[in-house]
Amino acid sequence: MYLSRLLDAWLPPECYALSMMSRADASQPLLDVRDLHTHFAVRSGLLGRAVGVMRAVDGVSFTIHPGETLGLVGESGCGKTTVGRTILRLIPATSGEVRYKGRDMLKLSRVEMRPLRREMQIIFQDPAGSLNPRLRAGRIIGEPIEVHGLAKGEALGRRVNALLDRVGLPRSAAERFPHEFSGGQRQRIGIARALALEPRLIICDEPTSALDVSIQSQILNLLRDLQRDLGLAYLFISHDMAVVRHICDRVAVMFRGKIVEMKDRESIYTAAEHPYTRSLLAAVPEPVPRRRRRHVPWLPEEETTDAAAVAVVSGTRVKRKA
Ligand SMILES: Nc1ncnc2c1ncn2[C@@H]1O[C@H](COP(=O)(O)OP(=O)(O)OP(=O)(O)O)[C@@H](O)[C@H]1O
Ligand SMILES: [Mg+2]
Repeated sequence: MYLSRLLDAWLPPECYALSMMSRADASQPLLDVRDLHTHFAVRSGLLGRAVGVMRAVDGVSFTIHPGETLGLVGESGCGKTTVGRTILRLIPATSGEVRYKGRDMLKLSRVEMRPLRREMQIIFQDPAGSLNPRLRAGRIIGEPIEVHGLAKGEALGRRVNALLDRVGLPRSAAERFPHEFSGGQRQRIGIARALALEPRLIICDEPTSALDVSIQSQILNLLRDLQRDLGLAYLFISHDMAVVRHICDRVAVMFRGKIVEMKDRESIYTAAEHPYTRSLLAAVPEPVPRRRRRHVPWLPEEETTDAAAVAVVSGTRVKRKA
């Protein structure tokens, strides 16, 4: 059903039907993350003794509705990727709830998780590192379809072709290996692979940061078109406020494992309240160079007088064991 929509995604009537469907169930969140914590043990010495706890995600809550894009922004090391991976259960959560269509995924068994895994996919920052270099693109895209028993033989070939069409790659790309593509083309393969299992939610983990600026906008436009045609919801992880403005409906700003501010796209630019959000915004280059903003780094009050802490602006606070 979904794939026929995917194949026909260019036809306006199908698009209208889908967008109406996603609007109908848009009142209920697709994803509802409540007080999520992910902590890592900090180890030291030859024996790897645990000496502390890294609170990479420290009580994060947000919702994403069908067809919506929530941006998750913050500096390197603040915990964005850990949030995404914990939601997909690639990393175990320490506590909290991750409700998908009302069911707490953290409580589901592996078997119960299987159908939900299809509905949630991830696109990685580094397309080169996330594609198996020994497989041809057609195999990379087709393998999950086959593994989940959705198609095989000729039908599988047709699906792979439809996905290549959808992400703007020639069908001949199916025969080529990842190293034979440009960075932007490789990211298109990553997107086709994410679409292969007919997801409802895609976690986009900095999908354009490894690409040239000119290619970045092509990939962002592709993601936007796919969302419009297929009613996808995105958790869009980025450290770039300008990119986030281009693609997100709402923006959550993360600092040291916590969300410090969450607003709709325009308000975050015009009415940011938290000093850290303002500091991030000040780093966005102005289109007119002479009106360049001054970047004022922000730190919590208790740390601004601590020279050592000022030197380490990045990174999440480590709680030492007493
Ligand atoms: N498996 C792990 N074990 C221990 N610490 C980890 C692990 N994964 C991440 N961390 C730590 O958790 C913190 C958050 O990492 P994370 O990758 O989520 O940050 P990020 O916001 O995605 O950063 P970036 O923008 O650089 O990708 C970092 O300090 C990192 O070193
Ligand atoms: Mg990351």
